[in-house]
Amino acid sequence: MQNIEAYQKSFLSYLEDFAVEKDPGNLYRPINYILKLGGKRLRPVLTLMTSEIFGGETKDAMDAALSVEVFHNFSLVHDDIMDDAPLRRGKETVHEKWNLNTGILSGDAMLILAYQLFENYEPNTFQALAKLFSKTALEVCEGQQYDIDFETRNDVAIPEYLKMIEYKTAVLIGAAMKMGAIVAKASENDQNLIYDFGRYLGIAFQLQDDYLDAFGNPETFGKQVGGDILENKKTYLYLKTLELGSEEDICSLLEVMSNNSITNAQKVDTVKKLFDDSGASKATQKAVEDYTNKAFDVLKSLNVSEDKKQLLRLFGEQLMNRRV
Ligand code: IPE
Ligand code: IPE
Ligand code: MG
Ligand code: MG
Ligand code: MG
Repeated sequence: MQNIEAYQKSFLSYLEDFAVEKDPGNLYRPINYILKLGGKRLRPVLTLMTSEIFGGETKDAMDAALSVEVFHNFSLVHDDIMDDAPLRRGKETVHEKWNLNTGILSGDAMLILAYQLFENYEPNTFQALAKLFSKTALEVCEGQQYDIDFETRNDVAIPEYLKMIEYKTAVLIGAAMKMGAIVAKASENDQNLIYDFGRYLGIAFQLQDDYLDAFGNPETFGKQVGGDILENKKTYLYLKTLELGSEEDICSLLEVMSNNSITNAQKVDTVKKLFDDSGASKATQKAVEDYTNKAFDVLKSLNVSEDKKQLLRLFGEQLMNRRV
């Protein structure tokens, strides 16, 4: 077994060979730009690590890992269009640096490239990977649609929110791990358990993403801090403020969200204070912990050695405490 940095390193060198210049440049340059912009490489590392946990070889899981990362980056290019986001990983988003059409078409091509990478596997593995990928990709679209629908709704309930983040974010993390298990030919039971582990970790991950979107350090976070507030996103912080806040907090929140005569900075500052005062910030951190623990519970039934489970726990803990 390798450590997280070692998986990252071998993945990055594989990515380097994949993201080469091709014509037409206006299609492929933005693809290489976003793919090489950095990022945590969380999903491919999970694919590689899971494959090794189930006795596979890292090199055999590389194309699956790359596929997941290319799909993830495709989803970010389109997500940044949908969220009107100016910054990604500390740099301009694709649609800002180029234009909207570039973001759409380069994104489409990335989705196809992601799928194409499965062609490097033998038929049985290809079929299992492609089947999981199609299901997951469609769920991500469903989650993204809920996320957008919720912007203009004022009656979103927490279970609806949880389903939305499970779809837009968590299922891909589950799938990244299951792909590693598929490549390593793990038992179906273990494939499903590791998927659930990843799915719970993914829910915790998106809860933490919501938290950092408001409370991350603008110097290091790499995205526009407060972007969710400005886009009227129904995040856990927002919904918990409605649940836990005093009547006064709730009135202030609704008032400031619909107030168009204050600056963006004023809006973000006021809302962040309400998130804190209502107890929503603390509740969000607690939920991150709870879902991480749910993931850890799944490990109990997993059929691998204790030191491998420990590696997975370490990964979960690092994610929970991340600041970017
Ligand atoms: C961002 O994912 C999108 C979410 C699902 C929250 P990451 O936080 O993994 O983004 P990078 O790849 O590290 O930039
Ligand atoms: C992203 O959710 C989910 C997908 C890209 C599918 P967010 O919109 O919260 O992700 P960030 O914060 O822009 O990275
Ligand atoms: Mg976004
Ligand atoms: Mg979004
Ligand atoms: Mg976010």
